Order: sequence, then C-alpha cells, then structure tokens
Amino acid sequence: MKVGIYYGSTMGDTALIAEKLGEIFNVGAVPISQGLTNIENFDLILLGSSTWGYGDLQDEWNDEIENLKKMNLAGKKVGIFGTGDQDAYADTFCDALGIIGEAVTEAGGQIIGFTSRDSYNFSDSRALKNNNLMGLALDINNQDDMTSTRIENWVEQLKKEM
Ligand SMILES: Cc1cc2nc3c(=O)[nH]c(=O)nc-3n(C[C@H](O)[C@H](O)[C@H](O)COP(=O)(O)O)c2cc1C
Repeated sequence: MKVGIYYGSTMGDTALIAEKLGEIFNVGAVPISQGLTNIENFDLILLGSSTWGYGDLQDEWNDEIENLKKMNLAGKKVGIFGTGDQDAYADTFCDALGIIGEAVTEAGGQIIGFTSRDSYNFSDSRALKNNNLMGLALDINNQDDMTSTRIENWVEQLKKEM
C-alpha cells in the first residue's frame, strides 16, 4: 500500500503529528507548501491541517485547497487529521478537517477514519458529519495526554478500512 502524507502547520504541532504518522507508515511527510505533488500515485492519502483564525485552514493550505477540489480522487481513500483547541475555539474546533473533507468529497475521494466526538468537549465543528468527526482531531493544548493513543487507534482503524 502506497501512503502519501501532506500537512500544513504554523507552530509545528501538526508537523509533529504528520512526522509520527510518517514513521508508522514508513514514508516522509510533505509540507503542503510544496504542493500536492504526486498525490494521484497513492492508495491512501493522509491530509493534515491545524485550524486558524476562526475556523480557517492553516495558511499554507490556501493555495492548494482549490487544486484539491479539481483533482480526480475517484478510487482513492483519504484520511484527514489536524490539531485545534476545543477550549478556546469551542465553536470552530478543528474546522479545517471539515474544509478539507468537503474538498476531498468534491474531488470524488472516499474519506475513511471517522472518529467519535465522545472524548472531546466542544460545541460545534465543521468536521462533524452525522455527529462523528471526519478524521483524527487532536488537541495538543488541552488533551495532549490522549494524543498518542488517538494516533495509534486511528492508524489501526485506517488499516482495517483499507
Ligand atoms: C490565533 C489563533 C486562532 C486559532 N483558531 C482556532 C480555531 O478556529 N479552531 C481550533 O480548533 N483551533 C484554533 N487555534 C488553535 C490551533 O489550531 C492549535 O494551537 C494548533 O495546535 C496549532 O497547530 P500548528 O502548530 O500545526 O499550526 C487557533 C490558535 C490561534 C493562536
């Protein structure tokens, strides 16, 4: 299985997660500032972004999100991950996962790795679909003790859903 990992990160939080995922899948993680190069070559595509402003994508994603929408991801499975702050931004927690998820759907890709919102405490998120989160939502600011377990569980889930 060929895995491609792309991420945008301002302070390095999402970069760390992308690197951990890269170690697990034994591939390098690519900063989104380098573009979505070769994305069509992978069986499993992992896309990561933190959320900034008030429910916005991480800056470096802004140039790529429109490109992503126009791609042909039919037959591709996509997992989405990101970091946010559910205490300070309870209404827009990890919104970037939702923005990327909507783009992936428009491109015809299949999102895998939905997760439960049960262990979080936020009011709203664009990442919610049928009351589940559209991927791996991490909160380094408030729940960093859960980060490793969440990553491990998500990777196991992705492998099962492949
Ligand atoms: C100015 C500012 C705005 C933010 N806006 C949001 C937001 O709307 N939703 C959210 O979940 N987190 C928000 N955050 C929290 C960041 O997403 C979080 O700190 C994240 O871990 C940063 O990851 P990065 O270093 O990969 O960019 C914001 C943080 C700052 C400083």
